[in-house]
Amino acid sequence: MKGLLAVDLDGTMLGDDLALDRLNRALLGRREEFYLTYVTGRSRRSALDVVCQSSVLRPDFLVSDVGGSICRGADWLEDLRWRRRVGADWQAPRLRAVASLFPALAPQPGHHQGEFKLSYYLSDRATLRVLSDAIRRQRLRARLIYSSERDLDIVPSGSGKGAAVAYLAAFLGLSPQEVFTCGDSANDLEMLAAGYCSAVVGNAHSDLRERLPQEVFQATGRCAAGVHEGLRHYGWL
Ligand code: GLC
Ligand code: MG
Repeated sequence: MKGLLAVDLDGTMLGDDLALDRLNRALLGRREEFYLTYVTGRSRRSALDVVCQSSVLRPDFLVSDVGGSICRGADWLEDLRWRRRVGADWQAPRLRAVASLFPALAPQPGHHQGEFKLSYYLSDRATLRVLSDAIRRQRLRARLIYSSERDLDIVPSGSGKGAAVAYLAAFLGLSPQEVFTCGDSANDLEMLAAGYCSAVVGNAHSDLRERLPQEVFQATGRCAAGVHEGLRHYGWL
C-alpha cells in the first residue's frame, strides 16, 4: 500500500524545527510508502515559497488556497482538471463586491489572495451568517471558511481542503483507510472529519477541537511532533 499523507503546513508541519527534523528523518526512511501532500490555506505563490525555503520535504502534491489549487511536486504543474472543476462557478469580482459592503471584513494583504480564494480578517463571527445570506441573494455560489477566529476565506463551492483531498484520493485509487490527514485549525476540519486516519496536533485551536468527530486522534505533541504521534498512532510509522 502507498498511502496519501495529507498534512497542513502552518501550525502543523511548521512551527517546531527540531520536531520537523525528526519527522523528516522518519519519513525519509519510508519515503516510497507515501504520497506526501501539503494542504494549506496559503496562496499558491506563498505555499511554494514556504515549501522551497523551509526544511519540509519536497512533496508529491501541493494543495494550496484552502483546496483551490493542486499541483504536482515534481514540476509544480497545476492539475488543470481540478482547476476547471473549482473554477466553474467562481465569480471573484461579484463576490468581492458583496464582501466590500461589510465593514467588519478587512481584506488580507495581496500575497494571501489567490485566483480561487478571497481572504479577509474578521473578528465578528456573527457577520458570517449575514454575508452568506447576501451572497445567496445575489445568486452567487461560494463557501465561507472561517478559522482561528480571524481568517475568513471565500472559496468556490466545490473547493475546500476536504474536497481536494477526496479528489486526490480518488485520483490515486485509495480507500479512506489509506489516507492520513492532520491539521490544527478550522480550515482543516473537512479533511479531518471525512473518515480517514486523522489526527490533530497538540496545539490545535479550540474552534477546531470543539467540532471534531470523536474518532479523530488528538495528539499531545505540538506541530510536527503531533503529526509524528498521529502517524505512529495509526501504525503508519
Ligand atoms: C493562511 C493564508 C490565509 C488564510 C488562512 C486560513 O494563513 O495565508 O490567507 O486566510 O491560511 O485559511
Ligand atoms: Mg494550520
